[in-house]
Amino acid sequence: MKVLIVGSGGREHAIAASVAKSSQVDKIYCAPGNAGIAQIAECVDITAMEFDRLADFAEKKGIDLTIIGMDDPLVGGVVDVFEKRGLRVFGPRKNAAIIEGSKAFSKDLMKKYKIPTAAYETFTDADAANAYLETAKLPIVLKADGLALGKGVLICHTREEAKAGVKTLMLDKQFGDAGNEIVVEEFMTGREVSVLCYCDGTHIKPMTSAQDHKRAKDGDQGLNTGGMGTFSPSPFYTEEIQNFCEAKIYQPTMDAMKAEGRDFVGILFVGLMLTEDGPKVLEYNARFGDPEAQVVLPRMKNDIIDVMNACIDGKLDTVDLQFEDNAAVCVVLASDGYPEHYEKGKVITGFENFDNKDGYYVFHAGTKLTDEGIVTNGGRVLGVTAKGTDLKEARANAYEATKLIQFENKYMRNDIGNAINEV
Ligand code: AMP
Ligand code: GLY
Repeated sequence: MKVLIVGSGGREHAIAASVAKSSQVDKIYCAPGNAGIAQIAECVDITAMEFDRLADFAEKKGIDLTIIGMDDPLVGGVVDVFEKRGLRVFGPRKNAAIIEGSKAFSKDLMKKYKIPTAAYETFTDADAANAYLETAKLPIVLKADGLALGKGVLICHTREEAKAGVKTLMLDKQFGDAGNEIVVEEFMTGREVSVLCYCDGTHIKPMTSAQDHKRAKDGDQGLNTGGMGTFSPSPFYTEEIQNFCEAKIYQPTMDAMKAEGRDFVGILFVGLMLTEDGPKVLEYNARFGDPEAQVVLPRMKNDIIDVMNACIDGKLDTVDLQFEDNAAVCVVLASDGYPEHYEKGKVITGFENFDNKDGYYVFHAGTKLTDEGIVTNGGRVLGVTAKGTDLKEARANAYEATKLIQFENKYMRNDIGNAINEV
């Protein structure tokens, strides 16, 4: 069969690597892809938001399955466009992807269906938000309602900061229309865990857990980023917590979406905070996490095509989802200065060190093939993933492997996975 993957980051490279392992797949295309994906797929010069061009391509090439990796096209309704044209596609429709596209929607859903999450208020008016902030308990969290590349969340420790945050989001519109509405939320403390789940509209099956490191600098300092590294599984996500989440969060979310006439098919990413009062939902995403996918997918034993087909056909209950009994760590190699100002176009060397190295992966995020070779082309450049028998070994392997790749202005965090020492 022929598969088309839509997206261009490390996540889509990890998806492509999983798809390439399937014996059912003869040919993989990726739109638009990147220099790493190009080694296992044919990259096509169509961007993720060109829905009609993507569908035209799928039709012309006789694509059997299209997998949407990114949030923007899902929230924008690419799945609806494909389905209308009778094309098979993996991902939630627009009316379900709103669970990521609107934080106000997802908070209201959780409140209505009693799914544990932080207490909150929503505002469409900056004056009303400021009035509320006069007496709100600090610290307090402000979130732009819409998509903001994971950067529309402000944690404010003083009232001045909070009011400046309202200005940034609602008046200066730093994230555009995403700030037309904001969610003001109670600040929670605890361990964060990401659990990505396959969903078929009725059934939901969680994958192995992972933890991301969102801040740019060691010790969780610096600005929020798309994610600087991950490990899987999370040792803090015990069986007891998993059982609680399945009963009180995952299945209730599936049922809530169905009850709202928004059957969710695809990947539901549940961002959890393990608080003293039990696990609570921080956020939902409607797709694989990046870089969570880079540690979760390499550990999955199933043929990803079988699982995705079962989701589309409403038969996920027949799938026995299995993961390796090991661990994986992904360290993101970024361009120094990310997430603010950084240079591009630096030549990257050392890829050949990973040839035939079992249990090691270099997932490309911001890279480009030029006459000089593969060069940096973004803030997050590569994700170096290594497996190990346990987290400690996986982390040591991953950091060893980061030394095999060189480029000017290479930057990484040196404490990815250090939390495992605290178990
Ligand atoms: P989100 O995009 O909603 O997951 O928020 C991004 C990050 O901000 C999360 O991964 C948390 O680290 C932090 N965060 C979001 N909401 C809260 C909250 N209510 N309390 C504490 N930290 C939060
Ligand atoms: N790693 C967080 C995300 O993909 O949203």
